[in-house]
Amino acid sequence: MKRKLRIGIIGCGAIAQELHIPEYLDSGEAEIIALSDTDLKKAQAANERYSLNAQLFPSYKDMLKKAAPDAVSVCLPNYLHCAATCDALQAGCHVLVEKPMAASMAEARKMVAFADKYKKLLAVNQSQRLYPAHIKAKEVLDSGILGKVLHVTAMFGHAGPEHWSPSGKWFFNKKQARFGAMADLGVHKADLIRFLTGKEVAEVNAFYECLEKKGATVEDNFVSTLKFSDGTIGTLSASWTVKGIDANYTILHCTNGTLRVCLLPDRPLVANLVNPECEIVFKVPEPPSNTNLGWGLDTGGHFCRAIKGDEPLFCPGVEGMKSLEIIFAAEEAAKKGRTVKLTHK
Ligand SMILES: NC(=O)c1ccc[n+]([C@@H]2O[C@H](COP(=O)([O-])OP(=O)(O)OC[C@H]3O[C@@H](n4cnc5c(N)ncnc54)[C@H](O)[C@@H]3O)[C@@H](O)[C@H]2O)c1
Repeated sequence: MKRKLRIGIIGCGAIAQELHIPEYLDSGEAEIIALSDTDLKKAQAANERYSLNAQLFPSYKDMLKKAAPDAVSVCLPNYLHCAATCDALQAGCHVLVEKPMAASMAEARKMVAFADKYKKLLAVNQSQRLYPAHIKAKEVLDSGILGKVLHVTAMFGHAGPEHWSPSGKWFFNKKQARFGAMADLGVHKADLIRFLTGKEVAEVNAFYECLEKKGATVEDNFVSTLKFSDGTIGTLSASWTVKGIDANYTILHCTNGTLRVCLLPDRPLVANLVNPECEIVFKVPEPPSNTNLGWGLDTGGHFCRAIKGDEPLFCPGVEGMKSLEIIFAAEEAAKKGRTVKLTHK
């Protein structure tokens, strides 16, 4: 019988309960042995909801010491990601940290350096890389049928985190979240367009505003224009004021046609080609999970199999850091009212 990895969860709020815990359980690769949350009721609720029989800790440092998990998920407010990740790596754990991976580029670099130093895996949960439609889209783009990507448009918007996490007031506080829609949603698409095109962003311009979220010290709307190192052009937008229907799509205009990714709910992947002139509606594979308690992305499975050496990490720390740099560059561009070049350091 294969050994299950012993997982600890740091922060038992919405994403831990909706995605991390159920997807570890779905994968069959892991057992949740410990839960930590400063609000112990959250840890208790997760323990009961999933019948885990895990050890509960108000302090994640105690959890690392006493439960000694093989790996942890860091599901904390953004400003706590770096400290918890570095403590866990130092304690000998592999880490799957939520996005945005850090609240500054210096923090992101420190996390990557700690993973190298302590020889543990650091994964960033840029979960859009695991959407079946996105995996298929990458396969289609890599096949070459669309030719070269010339122009990419990516948008992610919903009505705001108050509709997602009951304890999520911190999302609106700049000290705790660092960014609003830009890093909550924008970083997902920043990462996705790098993943899909295989190209790096070289220069950014941007605007951001807080239009509706009263009392917020972060932006609720963000738009940026991008130039990639090969000259490809793009736009990247995020919003917490999208109503009626969520926006979560990417469109790639290429030399031989257009690929629409998740634009049409009933047809998540459609290519319109010039040569030969045709429309291809791709079949998107069903999620791989057996029980499908979570989102069906197999996040825990991918992370655990990477730890076991059976597959590469879906988003290593260095990749998360490159995607995060786009958001920091966009912020600087908007503040200064001019183009900012990325350093990729
Ligand atoms: N990948 C995705 O699609 C996705 C979706 C939503 C949220 N997220 C990310 O997940 C992270 C958490 O978001 P959330 O929606 O779960 O927030 P949340 O507020 O629901 O949960 C955060 C939890 O952390 C706990 N906490 C705070 N300080 C702590 C500490 N020092 N030690 C232990 N626990 C502590 C809180 O009590 C709370 O239960 C954020 O970084 C967010 O950006 C990612």
